[in-house]
Amino acid sequence: MEVLFDLRPKYTKYDLFDREVELSRVIEYVGRLGLPITLVLGFRRVGKSSLILVAIRELGLPSIYIDLRKFEERQYLSYRDFVLEIQREVNNLTSRFPGLIDFLRNISGVSIMGNQVLFSWKGSGRVSLASLLDALNDWASNGVVIVFDEAQELVKARGGFNVLPVLAYAYDNLRRIRFIVSGSKMGLLYRFLRIRDPESPLFGRAMGVVELSPFTRDQVAEFLRRGGFEELGIEFRDFDAVYERLGGIPGWLTYFGLRYYEYRDLNKAINETVSYAIALIRQEFNNFLTDKVAARDRYLTIMRIVARECAGWSEIKNGLEVELGMEISDSRISEYLRQLLDSAWIVKVDNKYCPAEPLIGAAFRT
Ligand SMILES: Nc1ncnc2c1ncn2[C@@H]1O[C@H](COP(=O)(O)OP(=O)(O)O)[C@@H](O)[C@H]1O
Ligand SMILES: [Mg+2]
Repeated sequence: MEVLFDLRPKYTKYDLFDREVELSRVIEYVGRLGLPITLVLGFRRVGKSSLILVAIRELGLPSIYIDLRKFEERQYLSYRDFVLEIQREVNNLTSRFPGLIDFLRNISGVSIMGNQVLFSWKGSGRVSLASLLDALNDWASNGVVIVFDEAQELVKARGGFNVLPVLAYAYDNLRRIRFIVSGSKMGLLYRFLRIRDPESPLFGRAMGVVELSPFTRDQVAEFLRRGGFEELGIEFRDFDAVYERLGGIPGWLTYFGLRYYEYRDLNKAINETVSYAIALIRQEFNNFLTDKVAARDRYLTIMRIVARECAGWSEIKNGLEVELGMEISDSRISEYLRQLLDSAWIVKVDNKYCPAEPLIGAAFRT
């Protein structure tokens, strides 16, 4: 069984289908150019984590990988949550590079127990991120990569901790630290970074940006071929049917590949992929709604309207008012659409709002 259809993120170049241009750009930005911050943007399951993991491996630099996706369902992110993530990753590093421990030893809020590094998250004795980054910068002679994967979740930080000033400090002072910051909710991520806000610590800082698009029709065909159908002697020509129903998101195609391999039945494999995707998308939409309880029905109704057919602003307003039987102000409508755009549930195509990908549409039609 070819590894291309493995559901976990890929981490070797061999397992990554295509993405050569994007990969060489990340490697150039982080490696040769040494940009302090590189953004990797794209829809959920488009392959951001895979791209980042492969890039780190190709770069051969030590790295700290903070996966913030696990906080997606949470309302808040505490300093404790964050510090424990970093602690785990720093311990991974120190077990590979024991010399790093000496650089950490004298930081306040850091204790060394044997070969175990512990960070305190409480009160005035808490470890400061800036001093941790200072230490990493002093230690890493060729550079160190720090990944904040699904970084938009950092907007949920509470309890007086904010990553932005630390990012800005590192940007300006710590030349060996290179951040890779990814986001599937691109609008939210930009709102968090506030690059264009003069009041923001990151105001005006240039960043490398690498965007990942869903696969095109041709790439989908090639992905499925390469995925092993050919090697397995499976006669498979229904690439178009797959693309029509599932679109070009690698995550869904990977799932489809697995199911097809198992059943050798096109419709069964497609249908099962669609049900799987719909269940996941609904759950993620519920997460999106957790801090929007009062407007829940409104968001759902808007999604149902655009899922039926891409719709313009007024169509959405009318549809929503008809459905809910009440007037809704223009500013509210704009706010709902902005939230949906910022979290990549919808996209704007020629003045119409559409589901961001086919399976999001499917999830709100049934
Ligand atoms: N270029 C690719 N080649 C092979 N598999 C991929 C590729 N991009 C994504 N995948 C697969 O799709 C799924 C989602 O990828 P992932 O990197 O987790 O996406 P993201 O981080 O954008 O949500 C994983 O199962 C991964 O193995
Ligand atoms: Mg990811």
